[in-house]
Amino acid sequence: MDQVIGAQHEFHDVEFVAGWADRFAPTPKRLELFNIFLSELKPRIPSNGVVVELGIGPGFLADHLLGELSEIRYVGVDFSEPMLDIARQRLDQHSSRVTYVQADLVSDNWWAGIRSPVNAIVSTWALHDLANPETVAAVYKSCAQVLSDGGTFLNGDFIKPDNAIFEYEPGRFEIEKHIAMLRRAGFKNADCLKLLEEEIESPTAAQNYACLRALN
Ligand SMILES: C[S@@+](CC[C@H](N)C(=O)[O-])C[C@H]1O[C@@H](n2cnc3c(N)ncnc32)[C@H](O)[C@@H]1O
Repeated sequence: MDQVIGAQHEFHDVEFVAGWADRFAPTPKRLELFNIFLSELKPRIPSNGVVVELGIGPGFLADHLLGELSEIRYVGVDFSEPMLDIARQRLDQHSSRVTYVQADLVSDNWWAGIRSPVNAIVSTWALHDLANPETVAAVYKSCAQVLSDGGTFLNGDFIKPDNAIFEYEPGRFEIEKHIAMLRRAGFKNADCLKLLEEEIESPTAAQNYACLRALN
């Protein structure tokens, strides 16, 4: 089989980003992932805690969390200026609680513009774009260091299912490999809370994503 499950993006192109953000509006299934994040964050972080999102994109997850957790402060990290512009517009009603950091997660010091303490780091459908497991592992390691003691890390991202019959792009890899990398990064606990939209026989690039949790 020569089909590779993955997608090409042009995250620095204004027109591409505008069209992509419209198409990416959360479906009920995707909202299920956001609601798992909410139920994890509510009991674990202070009501006015700081949540950092890696790859804030058009701000759908941010809007959901800021709407439900009315006192949290939020830091949106992304390397794409057009995405940050769309997130700023979407999150306008929450602007007093949100700051934006333009940084490339592939760089050594993407976290330099983020002030501690950080109570949670979250990300959805972004880290697979870092293109290989080694870069994801480096980001996991930085997250374990940036997070406060007792902090929560949640990554909802595309994975390669265990019994995959297709090749997947290198940024999409097995859940067990993510968990091993999170433990090696220094987290005390790491597990997978749920595999969503699992599809083995005829997967699209928008299916097969897992909710991974790690605790500091
Ligand atoms: C699918 S979007 C995130 C959607 C967002 N979680 C939401 O709910 O709206 C992925 C984002 O990751 C960002 N991204 C991809 N590679 C990145 C990198 N190396 N550094 C920083 N951001 C990156 C893209 O610009 C894009 O905005």
